[in-house]
Amino acid sequence: PCLQSYFQSCISNISIQVVSVPGKLPGRRLPRNPIGKARAPKQSKKRALFWNVQNKIILFTVFLFILAVIAWTLLWLYISKTESKDAFYFVGMFRITNLEFLPEYQQKESREFLSMARTVQQVVNLVYTTSAFSKFYKQSVVADVSSNNKGGLLVHFWIVFVMPHAKGHIICEECVAAILKDSIQTSITNRTSVGSLQGLAVDMDSVVLNGDCWESPFSTDKGCSQYFYADHLTLRYPLEISATSGRLMCHFKLVAVVGYLIRLSIESIQLEADNCITDSLTVYDALLPIGSTILYRICEPTRTLISFVSTNNIMLVTLKSPYVRKLSGIWAYFEAIPEQSKGHWSGFEGKISSPYYPSYYPPKCKCTWKFQTPLSTLGIALKFYNYSITKKSMKGCEHGWWEINEHMYCGSYMDHQTIFRVPSSLVHIQLQCSSRLSDKPLLVEYGSYNISQPCPVGSFRCSSCSCVPQAQRCDGVNDCLDDSDELFCVTTKPACNTSSFRQLGPLVCDGFQDCEDGQDEQNCTWSIPCTNRTFKCGNDICFRKQNAQCDGIVDCADGSDEEGCSCSWTSSSLHRIIGGSDSQEGAWPWQVSLHFVGSAYCGASVISREWLLSAAHCFHGNRLSDPTPWTAHLGMSVQGNAKFVSPVRRIVVHEYYNSQTFDYDIALLQLSVAWPETMKQLIQPICIPPAGQKVHSWEKCWVTGWGRRHETDNKGSPVLQQAEVELIDQTVCVSTYGIITSRMLCAGVMSGNRDACKGDSGGPLSCRRKSDGKWILTGIVSWGHGCGRPNFPGVYTRVSNFVPWIHKYVPSLL
Ligand code: ARG
Repeated sequence: PCLQSYFQSCISNISIQVVSVPGKLPGRRLPRNPIGKARAPKQSKKRALFWNVQNKIILFTVFLFILAVIAWTLLWLYISKTESKDAFYFVGMFRITNLEFLPEYQQKESREFLSMARTVQQVVNLVYTTSAFSKFYKQSVVADVSSNNKGGLLVHFWIVFVMPHAKGHIICEECVAAILKDSIQTSITNRTSVGSLQGLAVDMDSVVLNGDCWESPFSTDKGCSQYFYADHLTLRYPLEISATSGRLMCHFKLVAVVGYLIRLSIESIQLEADNCITDSLTVYDALLPIGSTILYRICEPTRTLISFVSTNNIMLVTLKSPYVRKLSGIWAYFEAIPEQSKGHWSGFEGKISSPYYPSYYPPKCKCTWKFQTPLSTLGIALKFYNYSITKKSMKGCEHGWWEINEHMYCGSYMDHQTIFRVPSSLVHIQLQCSSRLSDKPLLVEYGSYNISQPCPVGSFRCSSCSCVPQAQRCDGVNDCLDDSDELFCVTTKPACNTSSFRQLGPLVCDGFQDCEDGQDEQNCTWSIPCTNRTFKCGNDICFRKQNAQCDGIVDCADGSDEEGCSCSWTSSSLHRIIGGSDSQEGAWPWQVSLHFVGSAYCGASVISREWLLSAAHCFHGNRLSDPTPWTAHLGMSVQGNAKFVSPVRRIVVHEYYNSQTFDYDIALLQLSVAWPETMKQLIQPICIPPAGQKVHSWEKCWVTGWGRRHETDNKGSPVLQQAEVELIDQTVCVSTYGIITSRMLCAGVMSGNRDACKGDSGGPLSCRRKSDGKWILTGIVSWGHGCGRPNFPGVYTRVSNFVPWIHKYVPSLL
């Protein structure tokens, strides 16, 4: 009963069961008290004890609970702290139209600037804290408030978002810009681009916001970031900074008087050339590094004067050289220039040029010219300097978009002048620049010509409609520039005394082969003594240049200056693509496989310890022109078994490369690591042909590569393939394809089936010179109609046309 009462007092329901079936509670030892003993005080004592125990349990539980809460909070704090977060920076600008610029805004500490900045920041805060990104929005900072040529204030700012690494993908430039633009309320009725952004009158068209800022807004050095004001219109303000060690991270903000533009003239730039990976000079059409306002980027050192013009009264020049090795710096000046009026030109004879000539013309340009000749029989001839225009195809234009009397043409740069004739006495021309960046200046001379007889008597009419004297036809020199004066010529060579091909010296026994056939150096009975500044040729004749040896140019009549040079010094095996066969290991030691993000993409040829020659089209486009994803695999026969692999440090694409016509399809690649001397049995450079060397039709050469073996294949060959092809007469090549320039040559077999194909691009067309057995890089795989089709030979870049260009970057091929 006591037991019962005991339990009853506690848990009445269970007590009965406990009593009736005591043995059925295993593991539970019930207190067995002697029955019938009087123990009232003891019981109360026990009860007190019991309460004590109960309290302790409760207290302990509470304590445990608190501990758990604290631990959990700490853990949560720790996790959220250590979870990696990324900051996303956006740089932008917009124009406020209803506020006047105050000179005080130039002082960042001034009350006026601070209050204006606060106003704008508040507006931007409001925009983003009420947007879908409000959770991640951190802050916005106004960096500049400037005057500008359109009136009102131009505000430059940056915005920061912070979000967990894993969520980074949800933030995008377009969305962040769209939030800002959508917040601008424009009314359709007043039809202006100015709307209200939380009360500020903002010009919708002026809003620019970029996430891909090239430079971090904070990575500048103190003392290397300054404002410069071009207040005087006649003054040139110097902009010069250089260092021989340490680092240079400079932001120069240039501001001109309102109503004027900034012209930056760069006399010289020194930096480490690596396609702008570490070193660069960037000119912006803004005061902050906003990617979409870039006017130009320079990645190579230069010593020729180039100038750029802004579209407003501001410009930012950033110079980045984080690890100065020898010398980095800029030597330039800037000035305020007036805005050019968009006038109409007309006249009979004279010159027209791109805006702000001779400066690079700014993007978004548009020019119109109208011409009228005095007689209806006279048309207008346009002479373009280093430029040409061709009918616009389906593709867009890259370097200027021309509309001439309602016909569309695309412009492209080249290394010579071209003439374009418009057979009409009334000519209307419009030029629109199609480049995102500033582009090279254009100069065009114009004059009238007789429509019915475009070429004067005694001259030859090129297929490009220009005229050359009849005597220049078939003289071996491309006078027409489209080569038409050299087509359909009888193949006997003209005597040297009527045309000196190289025109470099007198036709005397001077050791220099002025005539192509060496006629001027034959039957020489005397030799001039060699001085220490000349080079002694094998036939005892001295050549006037000491460094004549191994420069890729045959200076000695007997070619002895080009013997024993470092390229292909062993005549490689003659053991032996489309219609090709597996090559033997080591048969083509200059062959390179270029891998893009790990897979074979193009071929190339070794021309020195650190330079390769390839095709420009392999590197066309944003991602492909960046050297970082590329690796060069040397001394390889089977894919994956390269003897030497190096990342690519620098890609130099020919500046006149035309992606529409594949003209100037050549590029140089500098390896990050030169291949070791010890590998010279496996890796060997191929010789560059002498400058201007003529090729002989029907000569047999070899094309090699890991490209497709059939036009319909969908992958390349694992084993290096080789195929013997014939050089094809240029006339035949032109009549096959039409659009063949003098920078191209054809090779293949007219019956088809022996050709390069997709994946072989950039690889060599190697020809063995009979005189000394050396292998010469005659061509670079460029393009073709299908692969191995009958009557459609492969088209190659004619390397002999690029010898001076190669030497400009690779001064010593030794
Ligand atoms: N453009 C091609 C490439 O990217 C090479 C084409 C050569 N075609 C030819 N029929 N030869 O690899």
